[in-house]
Amino acid sequence: MKAAIISQGSVSSKLTKEAMERYFDEVTAIDVKELEINISGDDADILYKGEALGKYDCIYAKGSYRFSQALRSLSTILKGYSYMPVEPEAFTVAHDKLLTQLLLQTQGIPMPKTYISTTVDAARKILSNMNYPIILKFPQGTHGKGVLFADSYGSASSILDALTALKQSFLIQEYVDTGSSDIRAFVVGDKVVASMVRKSAVGEQRSNVHMGGHAESINLDKKSQEIAVKAAKATGAEICGVDILPGPKGPLVIETNISPSVQGITKYSGVDVANEIAKHLYERTKSFVSVRKEKHKKEIMEELNNTGNLITNLDFKASRIILPEIATNYSKITSDDQVELKMEKGKISISKLDIN
Ligand SMILES: Nc1ncnc2c1ncn2[C@@H]1O[C@H](COP(=O)(O)OP(=O)(O)O)[C@@H](O)[C@H]1O
Ligand SMILES: [Mg+2]
Repeated sequence: MKAAIISQGSVSSKLTKEAMERYFDEVTAIDVKELEINISGDDADILYKGEALGKYDCIYAKGSYRFSQALRSLSTILKGYSYMPVEPEAFTVAHDKLLTQLLLQTQGIPMPKTYISTTVDAARKILSNMNYPIILKFPQGTHGKGVLFADSYGSASSILDALTALKQSFLIQEYVDTGSSDIRAFVVGDKVVASMVRKSAVGEQRSNVHMGGHAESINLDKKSQEIAVKAAKATGAEICGVDILPGPKGPLVIETNISPSVQGITKYSGVDVANEIAKHLYERTKSFVSVRKEKHKKEIMEELNNTGNLITNLDFKASRIILPEIATNYSKITSDDQVELKMEKGKISISKLDIN
């Protein structure tokens, strides 16, 4: 089976590709920046480096929010042809924290109270009714860079003015006191395969490792595991990094990452996460391919019954043509029959001779 990993070429993606090579016959790394998608009324083409994208049984596509539209388009077009662990919608939802929270809400997944406003006045009103500290967050921030902390109405109000002047959209969120830590649960398929707790650096509220935080392995409780798997399912991703705040009233999901890094979690949890991903991709691709084959067979039979025509490639043994079994069954020609072969350039026809 052939697989491809579409990514920005990070170390994580390279590790995942290497692990996939242990399972698949062939694994191709595709640079997301070199993809081009052309859609028209009756056609949709995906080009890679200017040429038609090859055919793959499995495509694991990932990339930052800058590529969310391209990846959503690609997976919409290829759905049904290749097995893909991430649903098309997930590429746009998971890269927007507001859409993520809305989706999690509809699935009853616990999360911090989150507010959205359409005017500055409405936002100020929300801010005046909140208990401090609070969090203000950019919908598309990553690595902790779009997370702002305000410890009073005064500071929240001036942050609000700055965000408004910059035309930056944001959400307002209750601050969850976790002692400055959060949990990354790495979901593959129906289970959490690895998890770690991240603790923020002294004087820092955000526990991202990119923000100087450090991480360690954790034995995640059953409830958090269930919530993480549910959040990944709601997002539409079989491979998903779920961020959970262990709040005083229980675990709360703040984010689902569909392009999660495997390096840190592998180091801290001691689990070979890339291998878990590769194994899962392989098993799922195997069943996808067998269902696809059955479907293809059925389609061929339908086509044959309607027209008696079959469009296919031929098998050759040395220089002899082996016809598909379906041709024998459909024509009812047996080894006892005498046949007439008519040949010309680009054409062969076989007719049973009526001996009587
Ligand atoms: N509501 C919150 N309460 C307390 N801390 C938060 C809250 N939201 C985010 N944080 C802190 O900020 C970090 C980054 O937030 P997150 O929403 O995961 O954005 P990013 O995509 O930048 O990682 C979290 O890991 C957590 O430490
Ligand atoms: Mg995060």
